[in-house]
Amino acid sequence: MTINNMYFIANWKMYGNISSIKSINKVVGLTKLQKYSKAKIVYCPPFTILDSFEKKIKKTKISLGAQNCHFVNGYGPCTGYVSAKMLKDIGTKYVIIGHSENRNEGETNFKINLKINSALTSKLNVIFCIGETLKEKKKKKTFKVLSNQIKQGLKNIKIIKNFIIAYEPVWSIGTGIIPSYKELNKNINKIKKIIKPIKNSKKIKIIYGGSVKPSNVKDLSKIPGIDGFLVGGSSINSKKFIDIIKKTIN
Ligand code: PGA
Repeated sequence: MTINNMYFIANWKMYGNISSIKSINKVVGLTKLQKYSKAKIVYCPPFTILDSFEKKIKKTKISLGAQNCHFVNGYGPCTGYVSAKMLKDIGTKYVIIGHSENRNEGETNFKINLKINSALTSKLNVIFCIGETLKEKKKKKTFKVLSNQIKQGLKNIKIIKNFIIAYEPVWSIGTGIIPSYKELNKNINKIKKIIKPIKNSKKIKIIYGGSVKPSNVKDLSKIPGIDGFLVGGSSINSKKFIDIIKKTIN
C-alpha cells in the first residue's frame, strides 16, 4: 500500500531541558530507515532549548518547530515574547499557533489570525490548532466553533504548501479520551467542508491531536484523509513516540 507523507509532530509543551535532547537519538535512527521515509517528524520543544535542539537535528530529516510566536513580526517592545522572524533566524521551520492551552489563556481568533500572518511572512510552516470544548460539544456547537475558528483564523491568509490544521478536541487533550471513529470522521469531513471555499484548500494537511498513544494510533490512522498526528504526552518518551510512528507506518 502506498501511503502519503504522515506528520508526527511532537509537542513537548513546558517539559524538557538540555539533557532531554539526547533522548531523541533513537528517533534520529528511525529516520534513516527507508521504511519510515514517509514520516515527517517535527519536534516542538520549549523555547529555551530550541537552539540546542536545532544543532542536534541539523543534519537529520527531523524538522524543528516552536510552540507559539508573537503576532508582531521582527522585533519590538514585547516583553517575554518571541517573534516568528526570531524563530526563523535560528532554523525553526514550523510553529504551532492557536493551541487550546493558549486559547484558554485568552488567545483570540483575531490574534491567532495575526500570528498566522506573521508566521507565513517569516516563511514558517503553520500548525494551526482548532477544536471544541466539551461544553461546546455537548451543546452541539462543534461545527459552529470549528467554522468560526477556521474562518477567523484564516481570514485573508494565502494558503501555501505545508499548511497544517491540527484538529484537537479540547476534551481529548491530556485526558486519555479520544473521539470515536464515527465522530472523528464526521469532524474531519466538517473541517474539509469548511475549508473547501478557501483557495488552495487542497494543499492544507489535516492532522489529529489529543491523547494519541501507541495503543490507539492504529485506529486513529484509519480515518480517511488524516495526514498525521500532533502528539503531546506520548512524544516526550521516545519509545512511545517511535511506537506511534511504527504503528502508523507498517
Ligand atoms: P496530548 O496533547 O497528546 O498530551 O493529549 C496533545 C496536544 O496538546 O497537542
